[in-house]
Amino acid sequence: MTTTARDYTVELDRIPGAGQDEETFVVRQADGSDERIRLHDYDRVYAIPGLYEEVVQQQLECASPATIVAKLAEAIAADGRHAGDIRVLDVGAGNGVIGEGLRDAGFRVPVASDALVEARDAAERDRPGLYAEYVIDDGTVEAFGKIAGAIRRHELNALTCAAALGPGHIPLERLVGIWGLMPAGSYLALTASSALVAEWGGAQNALNAVSGDDAPTEVLVAEPFRHRLLMRGGSVDYDVIVGRKPLEG
Ligand SMILES: C[S@@+](CC[C@H](N)C(=O)[O-])C[C@H]1O[C@@H](n2cnc3c(N)ncnc32)[C@H](O)[C@@H]1O
Repeated sequence: MTTTARDYTVELDRIPGAGQDEETFVVRQADGSDERIRLHDYDRVYAIPGLYEEVVQQQLECASPATIVAKLAEAIAADGRHAGDIRVLDVGAGNGVIGEGLRDAGFRVPVASDALVEARDAAERDRPGLYAEYVIDDGTVEAFGKIAGAIRRHELNALTCAAALGPGHIPLERLVGIWGLMPAGSYLALTASSALVAEWGGAQNALNAVSGDDAPTEVLVAEPFRHRLLMRGGSVDYDVIVGRKPLEG
């Protein structure tokens, strides 16, 4: 990330009982002004350089980026593959934290997608040159076509989706559609709340659901981990799941 000195401080609101999607914090600028922001209002968070990293990575100790990168690396190594042969589409990419982690681990990450223009703008501002293409996925057929074109152009063979699946985030049907565009043998790595994975009936059922009408994607790795701290205290548990689409024939 391109770093500049931050001229603001952040104070988390430690409101008892506040759920993951209700959490807020106050940003105090050097000139004395302040604003309260809801963490899930990502457009406002991404607009301030370094804010997402300060709140989510530093203060809330988010482990999803390191975990998804490590587990994808483990899965491809077990297949005798090298990170440099893996070309990733990162969906719900935000401002590029996951993409940067993948790149630093030797993966190629030519394409990202996210619903928010602010996410793309922040990635280009803070991590210029990280992606060759950043598609704004507003859920339309046109955006789906752009993702399909990018997958073909860059011969992508892996899809990552960190902390971006489920209620209030990417609908399962959208992930099913995008995963359906990926070629046979592609890798899928995602992190999602353990409660959601349990609702789906476990990791293999989750990948069966993501596979839609295609042959089921096989689970290679499935592990629980502490995704991040909650502002009110305690933490939220996620599962990391890595799978591989069957080879044809
Ligand atoms: C918790 S952030 C995670 C960002 C990134 N994956 C990371 O781990 O740093 C969730 C991201 O999902 C994106 N998102 C939410 N709903 C979406 C949708 N329907 N389609 C695409 N992206 C979406 C948000 O804009 C946000 O950038």
